[in-house]
Amino acid sequence: MTMERELDTRTAGPAREAPVSGDELVKVENLKVYFPIHSGLFQREVGHVRAVDDISFTIRRGETFGLVGESGCGKSTTGRATIRLRVPTAGTVGFDGHDLSTLKSDDLRRLRRRMQIIFQDPYSSLNPRMTVDSIISEPLETHGLGSKGSRSGRVSELLELVGLNPNYANRYPHEFSGGQRQRIGVARALAVEPEFIVCDEPISALDVSIQAQVLNLLIELREKFGLTYLFIAHDLSVVRHISDRVAVMYLGKIVEIGEPDTVYAAPGHPYTRALLSAVPIPDPKLERKRRRVILTGDVPSPANPPTGCRFHTRCWLYEKLGRPEVCTTEDPPLRVLAPEHQAACHFAEESLRSDVGVAHPEQAPQEPASIAAAPAAS
Ligand SMILES: Nc1ncnc2c1ncn2[C@@H]1O[C@H](COP(=O)(O)OP(=O)(O)OP(=O)(O)O)[C@@H](O)[C@H]1O
Ligand code: SF4
Ligand SMILES: [Mg+2]
Repeated sequence: MTMERELDTRTAGPAREAPVSGDELVKVENLKVYFPIHSGLFQREVGHVRAVDDISFTIRRGETFGLVGESGCGKSTTGRATIRLRVPTAGTVGFDGHDLSTLKSDDLRRLRRRMQIIFQDPYSSLNPRMTVDSIISEPLETHGLGSKGSRSGRVSELLELVGLNPNYANRYPHEFSGGQRQRIGVARALAVEPEFIVCDEPISALDVSIQAQVLNLLIELREKFGLTYLFIAHDLSVVRHISDRVAVMYLGKIVEIGEPDTVYAAPGHPYTRALLSAVPIPDPKLERKRRRVILTGDVPSPANPPTGCRFHTRCWLYEKLGRPEVCTTEDPPLRVLAPEHQAACHFAEESLRSDVGVAHPEQAPQEPASIAAAPAAS
């Protein structure tokens, strides 16, 4: 009996299903995650960091859903709440039809086997006092999978799967390079045969020369096991390479969701255009032709976000349009701009018509007929 089959027969959790693209595996609705701020002698609660502030999205089975945004905008908190490593302040997270907030602890533990996480920092995410064998077999023990002997066999299988020598099992993390450590992190996430993996900036701490190797490994594993990913990055070009759909986050909110080609050719949100402006284009002619915007000013505090549209304090379009009042008074909801394309900007149509930030302005689609009229600038 292979270890794989042994693991499956010992599973008490819901049966694994073959990936069917299109149906929802993860459904996040009106998710809020606030962290209390304490101050003073008695450490009284004086406010909240609104790390994630009312976001909704779905991830389809077999899909890679990219999540991008600047540091501190709430990407990791979203990822963790999606697999209930963080308890939401409000809102719901559904996984394969189960509401994670209402599950009893045993049911939640069984469901957790189906969702794993790969962390950003391959140095701090592996316990330096544990061997590779213990690191990778720990989740198997936690979920009561396999005997002690069979777990070692499984660790060897997993090391081979991620491109490492199975003889390394008795070594410690400090004996490996960053790329090798991240492969160990990937093996640990795969140990319990999950369906859904939150990849929280899995390559950003690695040397550029190693990044493509680890990214390709994640793509290969996705194809091989029909995995679904929430892939977090701050680099738009990385997310484009791997994602079926991309969501852009700013200060705790999702401001744009769409297929990568659409979002890259004709972003509906001025913030997405600003992010794209920062991505270098290898073709010097196109690079020279491109109009760029540099984001000025600091990211506002998530403890006290700006009123109305949170981006208005840094928005180039707001300035260009003569500071319309609606941007400071009304929080723009995500609106459908085209099938599979939504943006949260009162003036998304203006953004769509703009050539700021994009590499091929001549390829930008014309304004779709389905777009509702934008509120008039006041
Ligand atoms: N445990 C916590 N307690 C208090 N505040 C927190 C906690 N975790 C995160 N935050 C705050 O919540 C906000 C969002 O943090 P988060 O780590 O989700 O951002 P991020 O987009 O992943 O950033 P990065 O790109 O730097 O990883 C930040 O302001 C952060 O300081
Ligand atoms: S709503 Fe106004 S401030 Fe916000 S992104 Fe759109 S133009 Fe800029
Ligand atoms: Mg993070």
